[in-house]
This record gives sequence, structure tokens and C-alpha cells, in this order.
Amino acid sequence: MNDRLIYLVDTLCQNGGLSLDEYQELLGLRCPQGEKLLAQRAVEKRQAIYGTAVYVRGLIEISNICKNDCLYCGIRRSNKNCDRYRLSPEQIMECAAEGYRLGFRTFVLQGGEDPFFTDQRLCQIVSNIKSMYPDCAVTLSMGERSRESYQKLRSAGADRYLLRHETADQEHYGRLHPGEMSLDNRMRCLRDLRELGYQVGCGFMVGSPYQTDETISKDLKFIEEFKPDMCGIGPFVPHKDTEFRDCPPGTVELTCYLLSIIRLIHPPVLLPATTALGTIHPEGREMGILTGANVVMPNLSPVSVRKKYELYDNKICTGEESAQCKDCLSARMRSVGYEIVTDRGDVKLVE
Ligand code: SAM
Ligand code: FES
Repeated sequence: MNDRLIYLVDTLCQNGGLSLDEYQELLGLRCPQGEKLLAQRAVEKRQAIYGTAVYVRGLIEISNICKNDCLYCGIRRSNKNCDRYRLSPEQIMECAAEGYRLGFRTFVLQGGEDPFFTDQRLCQIVSNIKSMYPDCAVTLSMGERSRESYQKLRSAGADRYLLRHETADQEHYGRLHPGEMSLDNRMRCLRDLRELGYQVGCGFMVGSPYQTDETISKDLKFIEEFKPDMCGIGPFVPHKDTEFRDCPPGTVELTCYLLSIIRLIHPPVLLPATTALGTIHPEGREMGILTGANVVMPNLSPVSVRKKYELYDNKICTGEESAQCKDCLSARMRSVGYEIVTDRGDVKLVE
């Protein structure tokens, strides 16, 4: 194996980081043996902290109505073919009840930036879930909001917030988003969330249009500095109603390579093997776990709306009941020697 590659992997393991140039070099030197070496190291680190436990999060997709127009996203406001829906508070509570019965102790409420979900309405939903299931964590993934809004939601009981930074490179950010959105505001949100005491998740798509090893190096540097509690990375998958419809999807190999690197940068990080990874390869999620991930997010949304929350083409798990999805994932994890656990699955602070 390339000596330089071995040196970079050793340095990353020891220091929990590399310089921007070194990250870029590590990406450039990717090869099957390098992927294997990084995966081995990543699995050792994760094993030491989390053993073979895989945490589950019940994902409730509460609305596909969005005021934003991110160029890659199937539910962007300008997609006139998107069949819009919004779950009622009662439907959301039913999903949580089903999830609780199935052993989930974290609920992730995710949706487009739907103006219907004012602070008041969302706070009510969060506090209902928290009072009904005090042993559960509530994660929100509802996009960019004001600091005051994040503050109110935190007071209502929200524990965690997922907001992918999407790319840490200004110019790249500008090519993926309309002019009214900015990387600065995205970063402002992440800082506010951290200061307000949330467990915070950032992340990015792998293989998004115009992404280069240089932009990925900046993502890795940002992750090294920000040390997120959670990090959502999954392949970009094109959606037929967006202008990126003909762009190639991200690959399993690069996604897994990055999962391993991120595990080594920040060993306690909660790292999902995403649905998008399972979409581009039938064993994508298992491969994610075997290269450093430790979280899976089965779908708890009502089957009637699943197909409508279509961020990208051919999304999996849109026809299955929640129980089927959970059983399927449990079997998949067991098949590679891991076990889904009934646990809130908070980040373990080891540093
Ligand atoms: N509105 C919230 C937000 O912006 O964070 C949450 C919902 S948003 C649809 C969740 C994530 O889906 C985004 O952060 C993005 O990375 C991912 N996503 C959107 N379109 C995608 C695509 N075509 N392929 C893969 N992931 C995609
Ligand atoms: Fe949803 Fe397999 S995980 S059906």
C-alpha cells in the first residue's frame, strides 16, 4: 500500500485531524486497500465507544411543503409535480405512539420549511411528545429558523437538531442554492443551536453537483473544528424534477470512505447509515455500519404519505409499514454482527 496513505491514516488516527491539503491528498489516494484500512480503524474506534450497538431513530416526515428552493431537492418549492402534504398533530402523535411500541426512544421530526409550523404549533407538538414519552429524545430537522425560535423549541423540550451544512465552501454552496440562501446563515443556525444546548448535527451530500476533493476537504475541516454530536452524510441522488436530474449519484465507495474518516476525526460522533445510501445500493446501510456508522433511521411516517416525501428518485422504504421497516433493519444489522438497541442513544462524551 502507498506509504503516504498509511502515514496520513496514522496521523488522522492520532491527531483527530489533518491539514486541508492532507485531507485532499487522502481523498486523492482513495483505493480499495485504503478504504479497507480506514474502515478497520474506524470500526475499532467506534467499537471502543459504542460496542456493536446500533441506535435507531424513528423518522417522522411531517411536511413536504417548503418555502426554499434548494436546487437538488425534490420537495423544492418550484417543483410543481410534487404532491404536497402536511401531517396533523394527531397523526404525528400516532406515529410516535407506534414508534414507542416498536422500541424507538428517539423521534426525529423532519420536514420542509413549512410556514404552518410556527413556533407555537411546533412547541406544542414537541411538548406533547415529551410529556407523553419522557424517556424519549426529540430531534428536530426543520431547517433554518431564528435563534429565538430555536430557544423556544429547546424550552419546549427538543433535545437535538439536525441541520446539514450541505457544503462548507461558499462558492459551492452558491451553486446548490438560490441566491436568497447563504452558508453564513446556515452556520449561524448551527452555532445558535450549539449555544442553546442542543445536541447538534451537521452534514453534507456525497457526490453533489460541483463537489470536488477540495470542497470535501473543507467539509472535513469544518467537522474537525465544530465537532458535531451527529453528522448526516449520504450520497446525492438526482431527482427527476430538478435541474440536476441528469447528474450522476454519489457512490457507495466514497460515502463509506468519508464515514470512516469522519469517525476517526471525531470518534464519539453519531453517524447514520442513511436511507440514501440504502437507495443507491441494496446493502448500502450494512456497508455504512461496517465502515463506521452507528445509527439507522427507519421510517415512521404513515405509509400514505411516504412516497410524497421524495427528496430524490427511487427512495426505499416507501411501501413498508413502520414495523416492517424496523424488522427489516434489525435483520440487516444482525446479518453483519450488530444489534439494534432500545435506547435514547445520546452521544457518549469520551474526550
Ligand atoms: N428542511 C430541512 C433542512 O433543510 O435541513 C430538513 C429536510 S431536507 C429535505 C433534509 C436533507 O435532505 C437535506 O439536508 C439534504 O442534504 C438532503 N437531500 C435533499 N435532496 C437530496 C438529494 N437529491 N439527494 C440526497 N439528499 C438530499
Ligand atoms: Fe425499510 Fe428495509 S429498512 S424496508
